Amino acid sequence: MDINEKELIQLALDMRKMSYTPYSHFNVGAALLAANGKIYTGCNIENASFTPTNCAERTAFFKAISEGVKEFTAIAVVGGPAGADPVDYCPPCGVCRQVMSEFCHDDFKIIMAKSVDEYKIVDLIDNLPDRFGPKDLLG
Ligand code: THU
Repeated sequence: MDINEKELIQLALDMRKMSYTPYSHFNVGAALLAANGKIYTGCNIENASFTPTNCAERTAFFKAISEGVKEFTAIAVVGGPAGADPVDYCPPCGVCRQVMSEFCHDDFKIIMAKSVDEYKIVDLIDNLPDRFGPKDLLG
């Protein structure tokens, strides 16, 4: 599966407009490429009780999984203060990395972007070494 990084990044940037962030005012967008070629987007969704907050990455994963899609190739992530373009990379939080660990292979690509022209790509295994996953529950 070829990865069109710029398309994924643009979709992630567009999703930041949908973020619900009345508390952090930090808008994150994600675009998740499934192995079947479909793309699932997500934004962060906060909550007055704080802990129910859902990150953009997990929103995208849960949309895909809820539609029966469980094989993934890459995800683009962009984030920064609301109302402005990102100036820094937004690394996926630990909880989102663990969700990736459940469904993705070692070479799943995490695309962290500031813009469609400025981005870096890392493998999941390098972002989450010694990761705990489904295989660890097998005897
Ligand atoms: N956030 C994400 O959506 N993804 C990440 O990987 C990092 C953090 C969100 C959660 C919260 O709504 C806001 O960014 C500030 O932490």
